[in-house]
Amino acid sequence: MKVTILVDNYILGHKGMVAEHGFSALVEIPENELTLLFDTGTTGSVLMNNIRLAGVNPANIDAVVISHRHYDHTGGLRAFLEARKGRDTIIISHPDLFEPAYAKSRKDGIRYIGNPFRREELESLGARFIYTRRPMKIADGVIVTGEIPREWGPSHTGHMLRQGDEGLIEDTLPDDSALILEATEGLVIITGCGHAGIENIIEYAINITGERRIAGVIGGLHLMGAEDSRIEEVVRYLSSKELTTLAPTHCTGLRAQAALATAFGKKYAVAGVGTVFTFE
Ligand SMILES: [Fe+2]
Ligand SMILES: [Fe+2]
Repeated sequence: MKVTILVDNYILGHKGMVAEHGFSALVEIPENELTLLFDTGTTGSVLMNNIRLAGVNPANIDAVVISHRHYDHTGGLRAFLEARKGRDTIIISHPDLFEPAYAKSRKDGIRYIGNPFRREELESLGARFIYTRRPMKIADGVIVTGEIPREWGPSHTGHMLRQGDEGLIEDTLPDDSALILEATEGLVIITGCGHAGIENIIEYAINITGERRIAGVIGGLHLMGAEDSRIEEVVRYLSSKELTTLAPTHCTGLRAQAALATAFGKKYAVAGVGTVFTFE
């Protein structure tokens, strides 16, 4: 199986490809004749540009999996559907996909950070939504986690808000889901922002599959601005796992990336737009 990063905050010098704040990865599993798009980045133009340069025809993608409803993961949906020219497109996500989402910061006040589209708009372009809160097997060895229990460690949802009955309330991002691929070397876990917390994501993946070996962790760990003590905790936790390839990118944050790169040495993969991972 092959995982190609199509949208990311970082880029590793692939001619003509571009980066933006956001994440998207292409997952190709030839044994299952399955090609999935995981998340879609922010603008759509970046996803479409990079998809074209990766030599992928959007019409050949079987389904889209969305990690959570934030704009930097859902923003490319319309452009992607338009490129499929009216073909039906299966989109698998948590049912909160169109719930408004906000962030509060001292600098910008409250701003909208949710899905920029309405469900009807995307359906008119061919989107067919499948919602799941529970783990959902898409094909042999391909599982969308659905809601991730927060039993094993902290989550990263500070300053996030959602609409309550009487105004904005804390958003714990229950929609934050991950994609699990069962490779012969162990699990490959692809995260969006990792809001659920990497301990919870990995332990839930182990729980669902019964597999303890982790062949790869790819995606955002949401440690931008995290306390040093939290970064150290994540380094300790990940070091305790049987982990072969660690590729934390997108919203992981440079300080956490540096700490993890130091701890993991050659197992740490510097990743960005255009990076390709292959697993048996
Ligand atoms: Fe994100
Ligand atoms: Fe997010």
